[in-house]
Amino acid sequence: MALRTIRIMGDKVLEKKCKEVKAMTPRTKQLIGDMFETMYDACGVGLAAPQVGILKRICVIDTDGTPYVLINPVILETSGEQTGNEGCLSLPGQMGVVTRPNYVKVKALNENMEEYVLEATELLARAICHETEHLDGIMFTSHVEGDLIDVTEEYEETED
Ligand code: NI
Repeated sequence: MALRTIRIMGDKVLEKKCKEVKAMTPRTKQLIGDMFETMYDACGVGLAAPQVGILKRICVIDTDGTPYVLINPVILETSGEQTGNEGCLSLPGQMGVVTRPNYVKVKALNENMEEYVLEATELLARAICHETEHLDGIMFTSHVEGDLIDVTEEYEETED
């Protein structure tokens, strides 16, 4: 496995619609492994393939120690609402308030191309919404209520 370069907002690759994955290949398996490594290295809870420059409908999520691979994800159902801070590895140091459904039911393929259904609430539901939108070229900033908050400065102030 290897770390991949995370593309930063403004990179056109983040605005493109990704293509469905038709079959698992050694190359795609490698990509998924690299995506997990890159996400954990950057202390993120989710990463979508376009964020490492690959226009495939793949995202990886780990909000609570359970890693999920979502290939060709389709959101089947949502309900409720949650409003809270959201960030993105493609926009380091910034956060914004985004309202998302509090419950999400998603259908996806795993790394063995087997279909599964995942029901999620709270942070995992938020991550699923955020990551699946990346596959359609949508950044969370299009949903931010109010201004983006610079969190880098805050972090540096409290670091020592
Ligand atoms: Ni993101």
